[in-house]
Amino acid sequence: MSKKITKICCIGAGYVGGPTMAVIAQKCPDIKVTVVDINSRRIAAWNDEDVDKIPVYEPGLSEVVAEARGRNLFFSTEVDKAIDEAEMIFISVNTPTKTYGKGKGMAADLKYIELCARQIARVAKDDKIVVEKSTLPVRTAGALKSILQNTGNGVRFDILSNPEFLAEGTAVQDLLAPDRVLIGGDSEESIRALADVYANWVPEKNILTTNVWSSELSKLTANAFLAQRVSSINALSELCEKTGADVNEVARAIGTDSRIGPKFLKASVGFGGSCFQKDILNLVYIAKSYGLNEVADYWEQVVLMNDHQKHRFADNIITTLYNTVSGKKIAFLGWAFKKDTNDTRESAAIHVADYLLNEQAEIVVYDPKVTEEQIYADLDYLNTRDEKENRKLVTVVNDPYKAMKEAHAVAVLTEWDEFRAYDWQRVYDTMLKPSFVFDGRAVLDREQLTDMGFEVYTIGVGR
Ligand code: UDX
Ligand code: UDX
Ligand code: ADP
Repeated sequence: MSKKITKICCIGAGYVGGPTMAVIAQKCPDIKVTVVDINSRRIAAWNDEDVDKIPVYEPGLSEVVAEARGRNLFFSTEVDKAIDEAEMIFISVNTPTKTYGKGKGMAADLKYIELCARQIARVAKDDKIVVEKSTLPVRTAGALKSILQNTGNGVRFDILSNPEFLAEGTAVQDLLAPDRVLIGGDSEESIRALADVYANWVPEKNILTTNVWSSELSKLTANAFLAQRVSSINALSELCEKTGADVNEVARAIGTDSRIGPKFLKASVGFGGSCFQKDILNLVYIAKSYGLNEVADYWEQVVLMNDHQKHRFADNIITTLYNTVSGKKIAFLGWAFKKDTNDTRESAAIHVADYLLNEQAEIVVYDPKVTEEQIYADLDYLNTRDEKENRKLVTVVNDPYKAMKEAHAVAVLTEWDEFRAYDWQRVYDTMLKPSFVFDGRAVLDREQLTDMGFEVYTIGVGR
């Protein structure tokens, strides 16, 4: 018999914690789910009467929140209270790459996780199941356990690893019908308790259980493999451009081999998102820490290739615009790291913009979901130039036609569906001539645009 869970607490109301808990609450009306965060603005936004104002944009998410919020889904800043009453606590706080000290630029910064563990240890008065949801380096459960078990207050903590595989932009769909749910741990009873939560809507055969280390490592590996596919196709995109091949045709041709499969073969200006780069750097750091230099170098190349892809995209814009973009207006379509999300973490757009700004370009950005505040914050975070300069060189508009009016070039950085549907003749008529389009996502109709008079560059397509 496993313990029946009636109250869940989730620490961290971000892109992972928010959607995951919303779906658990929707599917398990008998479980009270409380999502807590130290960021009171974020919690207030999750509680906004207008469900369209919740802080995470995901198709279908506001409907799920509207259904469960106030019934058995709660958002709060009262972290201690939620920890105290829950039988199961999910840790979904951020684990960014370290920006200082040992492992700077490579290792995951576990300070937020450790703070959570200490807080749980301080508050808990009865036995708890603690679930790692954030992506963690393999063997983090060991550190968590040692903090939790040395509290001396007689409370038993079982630690489970339950990595999240949802992709942003399709989070709700991924949560409702996951390929698999992975639960790692060493207490059968606790594993069962968590499996029972998911079994409310996920078929048992899709719930995999492993030891805790395999679970932690699988998360890093899954992201490394996915990112590797993107870097592999991106590496070929450059070769296609030189040889006259078309990377989209190559992707279709190889993707029909069932051993390769058709997904995740879309050439792009580079992968972004909060996970891929961070997780690979983590894998590299862990491999190095065991002296496995060949393993580390192998995976590091995936990130180096991605950096190259972003650079060469920007470089191509400069070369094509007669070797200078100084004072030229470049319209950016898209800033998010992929379509259907307002998340911009590690977005290729940030790095492409930074490179062009170093060449004194004037950038006008349009993204259907990303705020002006976020775009400036992303550029300021790089610390390449002062905040005033970023605001002088970059303008954010909420009308795509305004962004492209009198521009020297248009650069597509995100694959938002609406970009295809624009009146491109109207755009052509208002742009400077020659009118250049740099399609970093291969979403626009190259032939149609060329016929209109545009000079079109499409990632991975040879001329
Ligand atoms: C390969 C391609 O599969 C085939 O499409 C092409 O036409 C010729 O090259 P082949 O070399 O005959 O075929 O065998 P394959 O099954 O691909 O195996 C190649 C090598 O990879 C073998 O040594 C195999 O043992 C190894 N392998 C394959 C692994 O080590 N692990 C795997 O998961 C798969
Ligand atoms: C990823 C994993 O997919 C998910 O399982 C994990 O839980 C978190 O990390 P996410 O980062 O949200 O999810 O999005 P994903 O769809 O994987 O895309 C990552 C980046 O790769 C995006 O910038 C996307 O544009 C890019 N990408 C993806 C490509 O350039 N080409 C592709 O074929 C696929
Ligand atoms: P992810 O994509 O992993 O969900 P986010 O950055 O979107 O990452 O969300 C993580 C959330 O965790 C943030 O809202 C942050 O404020 C919250 N957080 C970090 N540390 C703590 C903590 N000790 N207690 C409560 N919330 C925390």
